[in-house]
Amino acid sequence: MELLERHHGVGARAGGAPAWMLERLDRALDALATGAAGGAVEVGERLERDRDALAELAESLRVGETCFYRDPPAWDALRAAWRPGVVRGDGARALSVGCSTGEEAWTLAMVLEEACGGRGARVVALDRSRPALAVARAGTYPREAARHLPADLGARYLVSDAADHVRVVDSLRRTVAFVERDATSGLPPGAWDLVVCRNVLIYFGDDAGAALVRALGAALAPGGALLVARSEVARVRALGLAARELAPGVVVFG
Ligand SMILES: C[S@@+](CC[C@H](N)C(=O)[O-])C[C@H]1O[C@@H](n2cnc3c(N)ncnc32)[C@H](O)[C@@H]1O
Repeated sequence: MELLERHHGVGARAGGAPAWMLERLDRALDALATGAAGGAVEVGERLERDRDALAELAESLRVGETCFYRDPPAWDALRAAWRPGVVRGDGARALSVGCSTGEEAWTLAMVLEEACGGRGARVVALDRSRPALAVARAGTYPREAARHLPADLGARYLVSDAADHVRVVDSLRRTVAFVERDATSGLPPGAWDLVVCRNVLIYFGDDAGAALVRALGAALAPGGALLVARSEVARVRALGLAARELAPGVVVFG
């Protein structure tokens, strides 16, 4: 687990690792041990020197659940703060950390595009999962993935594709760049007006989580804001980032 936390963030918190994570880890390690003459010791040594095998192990523990406009009150609050036309000058830059299959990044791009009046919005979205990023770049989803998306955003930024599927419009595609990167190896350089990192920290161990929160705080441009998931707010607050309430029950940091 220590190796996984050092290289991929996944790890135990003070209260221990969740049962589902330990079960999945046991299963994955058992599979690796099958055929390894030296058993668990050999598997440990292999993971120490073979980063691809370690990345595969991290992938086997991945939870990719997401959707457009996930947690609507949080996005409503962001949309109110970043209302249409509010950004002038050079535009705005946003970062989605742990974007999974991309719905969060596209949502962010929609809000930012509107705030920038269609000019100068830029979103960089990263995840360590190559298969998830392939889906993100394709930009086509079951209609169900957009169930929380307000109708006006859906009408503007999604088009019907194959039966029961929707596709992100081409104009939005120019706004978002998807990057394969592990957040533990540093965030893309730059100062970001908005950073969204939701439902990622929950899988991080204490040390890796503290390092990620420091990096997220340091990545903000002056006046920038960091949005995490509701369940992660207390942890980020405890790590010392300044919090402010964007709307009742919706906290941002920075
Ligand atoms: C539950 S999904 C969250 C998706 C989206 N942020 C949301 O809230 O809907 C968690 C994502 O975080 C990614 N992730 C976890 N640890 C990561 C790391 N160390 N570096 C980059 N991505 C990571 C996983 O691959 C997964 O796609």
